[in-house]
This record gives sequence, structure tokens and C-alpha cells, in this order.
Amino acid sequence: MDQSIQFDLDLIHRYDKSGPRYTSYPTALELHEGFGEAEYLKHIEKSNAAGGPLSLYFHIPFCDTVCFYCACNKIVTKNRSHSVPYLDNLVREIEMQGDLFDGSRPVNQLHWGGGTPTFLNFEQMQRLMDATRRHFNLRSDDGGEYSIEVDPRETNDRTIAQLRELGFNRISLGLQDFDPAVQAAVNRLQSKEQTFAVLEAARTEGFRSTNIDLIYGLPLQTETSFADTLDQVLAYAPDRFSIFNYAHMPSRFKTQRQINEADLPPPSVKLDILQMIGRKLTDAGYVYIGMDHFAKPDDLLAVAQREGKLYRNFQGYSTHSDCDLIGFGITSIGRVGDAYIQNVKELDPYAARISQGRLAVFRGVELDDDDKLRRAVITQLICHFELSFAVIEREFSIRFAHYFAPELEHLRVMQGDGLLSLDDAGVQVLPAGRLLIRNICMVFDKYLVQKQQQFSRVI
Ligand SMILES: C[S@@+](CC[C@H](N)C(=O)[O-])C[C@H]1O[C@@H](n2cnc3c(N)ncnc32)[C@H](O)[C@@H]1O
Ligand code: SF4
Repeated sequence: MDQSIQFDLDLIHRYDKSGPRYTSYPTALELHEGFGEAEYLKHIEKSNAAGGPLSLYFHIPFCDTVCFYCACNKIVTKNRSHSVPYLDNLVREIEMQGDLFDGSRPVNQLHWGGGTPTFLNFEQMQRLMDATRRHFNLRSDDGGEYSIEVDPRETNDRTIAQLRELGFNRISLGLQDFDPAVQAAVNRLQSKEQTFAVLEAARTEGFRSTNIDLIYGLPLQTETSFADTLDQVLAYAPDRFSIFNYAHMPSRFKTQRQINEADLPPPSVKLDILQMIGRKLTDAGYVYIGMDHFAKPDDLLAVAQREGKLYRNFQGYSTHSDCDLIGFGITSIGRVGDAYIQNVKELDPYAARISQGRLAVFRGVELDDDDKLRRAVITQLICHFELSFAVIEREFSIRFAHYFAPELEHLRVMQGDGLLSLDDAGVQVLPAGRLLIRNICMVFDKYLVQKQQQFSRVI
């Protein structure tokens, strides 16, 4: 499969509008409070009857300092003791959910995200993993995809060795930008030495995949300054890059108001940066997986994409397509059977629920047949840049051309613009359409029209 991208400035200008990132379909905006604990229990029962491997997500919300750009679900505190009651509740939640799921189902995928998971000390992390191991069937052969998000400012060689000992085999490091002026403007001071020491330690300890998070579009960034950051990281050749477009939505994320908007690079500079990113990473031998992600050609993500086995979930791209995903901790979102489920967002209601012996789920959504069909279409497109009508027709007993007649009209316009090629058999996204894959998926999103305003811009 051709995994190249082509940068077409005119197309990007024309298609630059806000849109979801499709880590789920329907997106999290469709979750509603009419779906609660009782509905979740019903879906767990069905999921156990169907069986299959599991994926577990744990949300550790705490951060020591705030990065002004941050749009993650986090709680900023210098007080480390805040993690103590949270961890107690998390362990109780693991016990409760562990009792509900069939204990023989293997956990093929596990992820700790944040906030900053390494805000916890080693004893706390060990307690969390031990509790998980007691109540779920974690793999002992190191064959699962067990990953953690790490802030290099909150980590050292010892932590990395400990994380490997706990069973993690994939690691993602937050970096964003090395330029001192950019770092000052976003309140994230992070040295090259500490960042690369963590990356080196991860290699030494045998982590199988290393990822670096960067953001383009931060205040004071220029093409030259960001190229410099990229060159320095490329010299250490991580397996993957996540290079996010800065989502500036100060009305939703209060700390972003501390960013001086006059310092934000204008759209033309962002486009120059994006073009430079594509060029540098391609020259360095990385392939574009899609939606901000690049990987070395032998990385599992790139291999899975070539083999048609890539999937997308709340953590981004994944190689485990068949897992039900269970969320733990505040704000976490799970996907069990045909439903998405989210836990309460604040510490106090979370503690109250758990201490009453109740699950922390407060909203969710059950997918109907149309949702499942559209989810399958969007997943094909966003993961593989192609769509076979026959595959969808077989799975959902529809006639594609009939069911999606208006959508096909839209696709024809995109074909005229050179984003994709379309025939009776299906859709092939062309190299010029790959950076605009969100726009192509948006054609199949029936909830989008009324929601258009609430998403970040595509580029
Ligand atoms: C939970 S954080 C990573 C772990 C750790 N807290 C750290 O900062 O190193 C996940 C990533 O989301 C990205 N991110 C956060 N806010 C963003 C925003 N407003 N726009 C784009 N990307 C953002 C950053 O690249 C960040 O590393
Ligand atoms: S980027 Fe990471 S460390 Fe910074 S505030 Fe967000 S979650 Fe916390």
C-alpha cells in the first residue's frame, strides 16, 4: 500500500474547517445522561456472552504544573497527597468492574493516560498494576500492547526501569517544542537532556515502541524553530511521532487564556510548518499513518496499516481491533459492545459514587444500526485511506449506492478536487487527500451539521 502524502496548499485552504478527530463514532458529544449504570450493566452482560480480549484505560489526572495550551482532562496540584484517595477509589473501581467482566478474557491492550501518570510514585503505580492483575487477566508473555504517557520532567531512568518491570512495553513522551521562547510562552520548561535521557532509558529497558508528542501552532513558533526541534528529535529516531495541531479554544480551556493570541503563528506559517513536517519525516523514512501520526515503516502501526488491520480508539491508532475497552478513573471513556460509556468528570462525585459501591458511569450512548454502519465506514477511511463498498454491503446488508446516495454526491466533488478516487467498487484516498482525511470522514457523520462549531480546525 502506498503510504505517502502530498501537500496541496490550495486544497488545504479550501477544506480547512473544524471537525472531529473520530477517535469514536458517534463522537463523545453524543453521550447522554439517559444512559447510566443499568444500561452499562446490560452491555457488560452481552459483552461477556460474546467474549474476546479486553483493552483497559486508566486515567491519572494529576499534573505538577500547568502547560497553558493543554486541552487534556487534568488537575493541576503541587500537593502529591491528592493522589492518595484517588488511588484508593481507582483500586475499588478495578475491583467492582473486575467482578462484572469475565475474568478469563485476556487483556491485550492497557493504557495509562492523563494528566501525568508518573505523578504517582512507584509504590502507587505498583499498587495500581497489582490490583489490575488481581482482577483482570493481564498477559504475562509481554505480548500485549501496554502503554503509558510519560512527562520527561516527571520521570528518570529509575522510573523507566520500574515501568518496564510493571509490564509496560510502549511509551509516549510529551515534548511539544524545544525552543526556550516557546517553552516560556506555554509554561513548559523542559530540557533536551532530560527528554533524551528518558528516551534512551526506554530503549535500554527494552520498550518496544517509543513515541514523541509535539504540537505545531504554539505561540512564537516559526518554521525554522520547529524544524530545529524536529531535527533534534529525529537524531534520536523514535519509532513514532504524534504531531498535533494546536487546538486553541480559550472559551473551553481557561488556561489557554494565558497565551497571548498575538504570538500565535498565523495560518500561513502553520501551513509552512505542516509542509516542513511532512517533508522532514518522509525524508527520514517515516510513513504517515493518518491524523497527526507518523511511524517508522517497521513499527507495528505502519505494518498493521499495510495489512489492513489498523483500528482507531480513544488513545488514537491501535493494532487491536476486536477489544472491548473498559475505562477507569474520572472522565475515562469505554466502549463495551455497542455502547460508549463515560465516567464522571470530577473527583468528588467520583469518590462519592465509588464509596457507595456504585460504578462511576454518568453518561453513555448505545449505537443504533445506522451508527454502527457509519462507524465501520469512517474506521475504514481513517485507518486505511480506502473503502470497499462490497465489504460494507456484506456486513450490513445494504446497497451502498442507495443508502449513501447524498454522501456519494459529496465524494464526487472531492474526487473532482483530487482528494480521492471513486468508482463502483469503492473509495481510494489519494496522497493529496490524506491530510484532509477528517473532511472525508465528515461526509458520513450524520450528527455533524448541528455540531460543527464545537471542534478544532482540521489543519
Ligand atoms: C496527556 S498529554 C501527555 C502526557 C504528559 N501529561 C505530558 O504532557 O508530557 C497528551 C498530549 O496531548 C497534546 N495536547 C495537549 N493539549 C493540546 C492542545 N490544546 N492541542 C493539541 N495537542 C494538545 C500534547 O502533545 C500532549 O503531550
Ligand atoms: S500537557 Fe501534560 S503535563 Fe501539561 S498540563 Fe497537559 S496533561 Fe499536564
